[in-house]
Amino acid sequence: MNVAGRPYRTIWLKPNDDRIVQLIDQRSLPHRFAIEDVTTVEQMAAAIREMQVRGAGLIGAAAGYGMYLAMLAGMDVAAAADLLRATRPTAVNLAWALERQRQGIATGASAEQKIALARETAEAIADEDVAHCREIGRHGLALIEQIARQKDGRPVNILTHCNAGWLAFVDHGSATAPIYAAHDRGIPLHVWVDETRPRNQGAKLTAWELGEHGVAHTVIADNAGGHLMQRGEVDLVLVGTDRTTRTGDVANKIGTYLKALAAKDNGVPFYVALPSTSFDWKMRDGVEEIPIEQRGAEEVKHADGWAEGRTLEVRLTPEASPAANYGFDVTPRRLVSGLITERGICQPNEQSILALFPEHAP
Ligand code: MRU
Repeated sequence: MNVAGRPYRTIWLKPNDDRIVQLIDQRSLPHRFAIEDVTTVEQMAAAIREMQVRGAGLIGAAAGYGMYLAMLAGMDVAAAADLLRATRPTAVNLAWALERQRQGIATGASAEQKIALARETAEAIADEDVAHCREIGRHGLALIEQIARQKDGRPVNILTHCNAGWLAFVDHGSATAPIYAAHDRGIPLHVWVDETRPRNQGAKLTAWELGEHGVAHTVIADNAGGHLMQRGEVDLVLVGTDRTTRTGDVANKIGTYLKALAAKDNGVPFYVALPSTSFDWKMRDGVEEIPIEQRGAEEVKHADGWAEGRTLEVRLTPEASPAANYGFDVTPRRLVSGLITERGICQPNEQSILALFPEHAP
């Protein structure tokens, strides 16, 4: 997508030095657009853990490039994969990318071959992520067009949570891909952007990227969604996912489940957009099985923002009050209207999912 009129991906190999991976440092956004050079797998692991890069698709792509850096350094494949795997538990794209790299690298006999294979796989993971998100946009566009026809020229109001935008992938995004496609077609639309405490990925990242693309949007407090749905101000809820079971249970940023409950109560369609790399084909029960990341309490106790030309962090809570920081929740399939994938839209049940992805049938 474009930043100040120039097209970017979120991660890429440095044009004149392919021993360096470059990425957009998302911790500085929306206040500063900064690009970081990453030269070792340890740095890549830190970039994922500290959320310089984040979002399911981008975590997978970063892990792919991390394995390439590890091969350049002559590191053991299993040790490098363990280091990257330990960074964040919920997005299944991470484990998927590491397994793809492990299998590919194993076919190389020499160190040079392993480096070449790891590079090829890292680039393929990134390119496929872009292609999948583009296709999600195409299929999701049909859904938005259908709603737009009922609105008689009035804007389609879409509510989204967290950031399942291009910043969460290599390009286009999952939940945002249909939004960008519809906007580019000239369909009038407006996006309600949940701020998404505690890290505020909605307020900081989704708002920034929608703004850069010229999409009308309004940032709302996390708790406003139910109220807006009751008033008929939301036509569609469109979110991403970090891991979805083969049966259609959806793990996404904490707070998604409450939006799905409110959507169900108000008859608002609730769609989840995902590339197939975010399906966990081994899991059947999301609430029981999906690992939920717990991050540091400091993220809840503090907030940061831009003041007098720099980022300022302040404490919100009494110093002694403990805080808990659950990163994700699981929305059971019964609350999901449909899944938008690169192969089309399916129902959140095993039969319908497997009709699109028959290669994963038992
Ligand atoms: O903790 P994050 O920022 O890596 O969480 C990921 C997310 O932004 C969301 O859960 C998103 O909706 C799904 S990832 C495409």
